[in-house]
Amino acid sequence: MFSLFGLLGLTAITTATPTAQSHSPSHDCTSLPHPHLPGAEILSVTGTELINFTVPAVPPLLNENITDINVCAVTVTLTHIDTTHTDTQPNDTVTIQIWLPLKSHSQWSSRFIGVGGSAWAAGIPPLTIAPYAAHRGFAAAATDAGLTPGPDGDILDPSPWALNSEGSINEVLLENFASRSVHDLAVVGKAVTEAYYGRPAEYAYWEGCSTGGRQGLVTAQRYPGDFDGIVAGAPAGYWTWYVMAELWPQVVMNEEGYYPNKCEWDAVRGDVVEVCDGLDGVVDGVVGDLGACEKVYRPERTLPGKRVVCEEDGTEVVLSERLARMAESIWKGPKTESGSPLWYGLTLGAPLDSLAGTVAVNESSTDRIGAPFPVARDWTRFWVTQNPSFDFSTLDSAGLRDLFAQSVAKFEAVIDSSEPDLSRFHQAGGKLLVWHGEADHIIFPQDSIRYHQEVQKAAGSKKSVDEFFRLFVAPGVDHCALGSIDGAGPTDALAAVIDWVEKDKAPRELPAATLATAKNQFTRKLCAYPLVARYDGKGDPAKAESYNCVAQSTCAQVEWAAE
Ligand SMILES: *[C@@H]1O[C@H](CO)[C@@H](O)[C@H](O)[C@H]1NC(C)=O
Ligand SMILES: *[C@@H]1O[C@H](CO)[C@@H](O)[C@H](O)[C@H]1NC(C)=O
Ligand SMILES: *[C@@H]1O[C@H](CO)[C@@H](O)[C@H](O)[C@H]1NC(C)=O
Ligand SMILES: *[C@@H]1O[C@H](CO)[C@@H](O)[C@H](O)[C@H]1NC(C)=O
Repeated sequence: MFSLFGLLGLTAITTATPTAQSHSPSHDCTSLPHPHLPGAEILSVTGTELINFTVPAVPPLLNENITDINVCAVTVTLTHIDTTHTDTQPNDTVTIQIWLPLKSHSQWSSRFIGVGGSAWAAGIPPLTIAPYAAHRGFAAAATDAGLTPGPDGDILDPSPWALNSEGSINEVLLENFASRSVHDLAVVGKAVTEAYYGRPAEYAYWEGCSTGGRQGLVTAQRYPGDFDGIVAGAPAGYWTWYVMAELWPQVVMNEEGYYPNKCEWDAVRGDVVEVCDGLDGVVDGVVGDLGACEKVYRPERTLPGKRVVCEEDGTEVVLSERLARMAESIWKGPKTESGSPLWYGLTLGAPLDSLAGTVAVNESSTDRIGAPFPVARDWTRFWVTQNPSFDFSTLDSAGLRDLFAQSVAKFEAVIDSSEPDLSRFHQAGGKLLVWHGEADHIIFPQDSIRYHQEVQKAAGSKKSVDEFFRLFVAPGVDHCALGSIDGAGPTDALAAVIDWVEKDKAPRELPAATLATAKNQFTRKLCAYPLVARYDGKGDPAKAESYNCVAQSTCAQVEWAAE
């Protein structure tokens, strides 16, 4: 870590309020110096004091109005410098925003946090940093990585930046999105924090989900000294693999020539929950014992002939054998030519209608066509094939295998954050907490379990990775606990990591609760993998304290269910 002390000694505008541990001069919000970032030129640093400021809610990214914010809001712009190819410069403009709790209000906790992005956004400031800076005392930062968002800031639209004007891949921005911007954020954010307060942050954290979770793994793997504690939710780690597997349900529909609507897919999920809900000993609308469910649930037994009234329009559908067959195939996931798994499928109990999305051909028709999940669609057309008009309606198993091969061959080294050797992060004293909804409908929870196993393998069988890496799987929770279904997600995973880093209190359980919008309200605990939470058979099943963390194999219910 570099200190601003030496760098700024000459030009510093010192203020009269040095603290006991002061290492460097502190600066006013409006006159912060340019930080030093190797490989980049800082273009501007502007700071503005926001007093009693409000950031209005923008669900689902920000579910509450954040009011009464008092921060020094700093915007840093920079461009990367290519010192090896001096004739061609990247010409990118990256904007980093850092919100610092006002010195005059003395509410800084001495902690710095980098906050991750979603989908195609590397960060969504100031929305995502406001809650941390406003009420939790963090100096909080996020970056746009130099990416131009889609119209109205649409984070699901990478078309403005994916390709150069002549159709080639914009390698500079891909690298920014994939990894570089996370490190820039850490260096610049910490330097600005130190310059404002006149002392460095004592602890640095990262929190993000999905793309933000991937960024969390990137920093642990590539920049192990940047953050002391990392919360990576539903990380998009095996990007080149799982994004291709997201197309599998579309292939299943293409090959069957049938495109179910949301009502049918919801009915399939409803049937799974009906059969499997009680297998864990509690009827709460959640598949709590996925292993038992996988053993007993057979769609062909319960789906065909079942009549379901659709919530949306009151129409009745009769579920078919074909639908049962398609669901089975989607759960099994894509296969190689010889029939071994290419990647994972959706878990039982995960909503199917995002990856198996369909739309009506036109307003006056009930005919439907496939609607691939936007991230998988755009990764395929802009990056994997560089064919913006790629036709998904004819994509079959062989075609998907070809896309898999290209995706991995061309981009694994650039964007996958699957490196299992975390020894440098471990040596640096870092703590990594990954959590993943077991009914994630977008990124497969098996990805996180796989990564945990790979890290364990890389560390060697004698060492437990528990010392620095813990995984928490949340039954019945969808992608990043967005709330399309009703499981209990972690209420404050960051607090657990802070205790781990600062008090050496490693988390064995995470408090979890359903969202305010859930039909059944309950609290739960999430257990450090591979343990699972099981009802004690006595207490209130809606309360976390009635559950214990136990080994999978000691669950009597599994044995019973498997008969
Ligand atoms: C903050 O803003 C609110 C609403 O604009 C106002 O009612 C309140 O008096 C303000 N508080 C301070 C301390 O300025
Ligand atoms: C946010 O504030 C607006 C205006 O005061 C209000 O209409 C809205 O209901 C609030 N939203 C939330 C989620 O509290
Ligand atoms: C950056 O701009 C310069 C000058 O316009 C141009 O020559 C160069 O090719 C650009 N670099 C990239 C990566 O597009
Ligand atoms: C809607 O799609 C159907 C095919 O399913 C086609 O026959 C019909 O002409 C289309 N109608 C309009 C208005 O485009």
